[in-house]
Amino acid sequence: MTDRKGIILAGGSGTRLYPITIGVSKQLMPVYDKPMIYYPLSTLMLAGIREIAVITTPHDQAQFRHLLGDGSQWGLSLTYIAQPSPDGLAQAYLLAEEFLDGAPSAMVLGDNIFFGHGLSQIMATAMARPAGGTVFGYHVADPERYGVVAFDDAGKVREIVEKPSKPPSSYAVTGLYFLDGEAPARARDLAPSARGEIEIVSLLETYLAEGSLDIQLMGRGYAWLDTGTHGSLLDAGNFVRTMSLRQGMQIGCPEEIAYAAGWIDADRLRDHARTFAKTDYGKYLADLLA
Ligand code: DAU
Repeated sequence: MTDRKGIILAGGSGTRLYPITIGVSKQLMPVYDKPMIYYPLSTLMLAGIREIAVITTPHDQAQFRHLLGDGSQWGLSLTYIAQPSPDGLAQAYLLAEEFLDGAPSAMVLGDNIFFGHGLSQIMATAMARPAGGTVFGYHVADPERYGVVAFDDAGKVREIVEKPSKPPSSYAVTGLYFLDGEAPARARDLAPSARGEIEIVSLLETYLAEGSLDIQLMGRGYAWLDTGTHGSLLDAGNFVRTMSLRQGMQIGCPEEIAYAAGWIDADRLRDHARTFAKTDYGKYLADLLA
């Protein structure tokens, strides 16, 4: 089977975080000690994915390139794709069609932060599914803000509804989508919704309709953090700070993941530690070597 490739969707207008996102892309905002995109990037890396397309607005692409480069510093290969206007999450599969070249994919939204023991394992199961798709359901207090899973009486997934005014359950579909190589062709057949977007839930529906969508529920032991409002962005930063200080372990550290996976060697990690020598982040990297 062709290796699964990654997509980070990091475009959009960021209007819900105005005025801070007038000058800088949302996904470059700090979440405690690192830019937001480090977290979804780390999620894909934890899944074992090394070939990743970063989709941004044309305007913001230069800053993402400046931050992430070609990815080789982490043993990755990064490709940049511009999305001229935010026409929907499923449009990512059309924009990335050439990059994917028939390969299955894992797409993560650039503002989604995942944390929890066992994350690598549940992603490993999704990685191993050759056909169809896998998405993750997460219990939230405010499901009306998300794509929501509707279950039938037998507990089987019946439908996924985007931002329903009356949510059929409390399970939101997170912004992490493992789909097979057919996703671009399926996305091409979708008509834009009433709000003018090619909807991810419509794409997922095509898999659901033929019984090839697996929905895994992420239990209480996971944190799926929202960064969609000023308050939740601050909460996410505080969460990362609290956990990382308490445990003495980083969350969303690409250097650590790359080193543990053997994608970079000790010399390369030492270079990173030197670059960040004036920060706790740098000290952490140096400690990894010790
Ligand atoms: O976070 C999970 C939720 O993400 C899912 O539960 C929903 O089903 C899904 O539609 C999406 O909902 P959001 O309300 O968060 O979508 P939003 O339009 O805010 O876009 C999510 C991120 O993707 C955001 O950081 C901007 C980026 N984006 C969005 C669109 C529509 C793009 O890069 N391009 C786009 O065309």
